[in-house]
Amino acid sequence: MLTHATPPETDFTRLPDPGPDVFTAPLQRPAEVGEDWLEPAQRQYSAEEHRIWDDLYARQMQVLPGRAASAFLAGLERLDLGRGGVPDFARLSEELSGLTGWSVVPVPMLIPDHVFFWHLANRRFPAGNFIRTRETFDYIQEPDVFHDVFGHVPMLTDPTFADYMQEYGRAGWKAMRYNRLKALGALYWYTVEFGLILEGPEEADGLRAYGAGILSGPTETVFSIEAQSPNRIMLNVDRVMRTDYVIDDLQPTYFVIENFGELYHDTVDRDFDRLYRALGPGFTYANSAVIDVDDVLHRGTQEYALRGGRGSGAKPV
Ligand SMILES: [Fe+2]
Repeated sequence: MLTHATPPETDFTRLPDPGPDVFTAPLQRPAEVGEDWLEPAQRQYSAEEHRIWDDLYARQMQVLPGRAASAFLAGLERLDLGRGGVPDFARLSEELSGLTGWSVVPVPMLIPDHVFFWHLANRRFPAGNFIRTRETFDYIQEPDVFHDVFGHVPMLTDPTFADYMQEYGRAGWKAMRYNRLKALGALYWYTVEFGLILEGPEEADGLRAYGAGILSGPTETVFSIEAQSPNRIMLNVDRVMRTDYVIDDLQPTYFVIENFGELYHDTVDRDFDRLYRALGPGFTYANSAVIDVDDVLHRGTQEYALRGGRGSGAKPV
């Protein structure tokens, strides 16, 4: 009879303790938040901060049609995120829980991985409480309420994607046990943040973006779909989890799915134990690499990155 050395990761009610050996980012927890990192309430935004939301929203709406996934656009509309000003999390959660059982909860900043996974496993999406300023209007590295709510929350209205996000959170336990959070992080990066989907043949302009990192800014919305520089490769979970990623520039490679059901099954049916045992602690593939097993839709020129990328004046072509 088989015996398990460690209990199966099925208890998602308690916040997991990653233990001393698992690397987690050394984030300083603010005094007002507890172990769950939740702020007591959403902050009160000034009139100018509400205007910043409205201006960011209007700017995105100029580039999203024809480039954003239909599930994303449907979610935006269902939640009426353009009704004016930063959305109220309580109202948003009420609407969202009626659709897919998710809620939106305020956090002060980036939170540790194990806490983030725990919230996802319980269908709570942690959203940054602050909003960028006019000075950081075009680019902000730390996720603010616009990135988190505008970028992520519409997709949570899609039942299959909503389930994928919860399963992703649950998968965090195992990644911690194997100390392979980096690999699981790459999967999040190339799907939830920078994922593309084929809604029809690519030749017939069927490529759309569903990743929040893409859809919360105008430059990458256009770049991810239309530019010649980046590779566009069909998603393979094992391959993606071995692939490095850049956090502060346009992506050299995007991974493409055919539908959200496939993404869900590719993740849930995955034998992560076997995969984690086979993975080294670092990434195998550079973020611009094209390898033998790839099903390549478009092999990028990498011109943007070769010319120096962000800060160099290189055009996102
Ligand atoms: Fe994000």
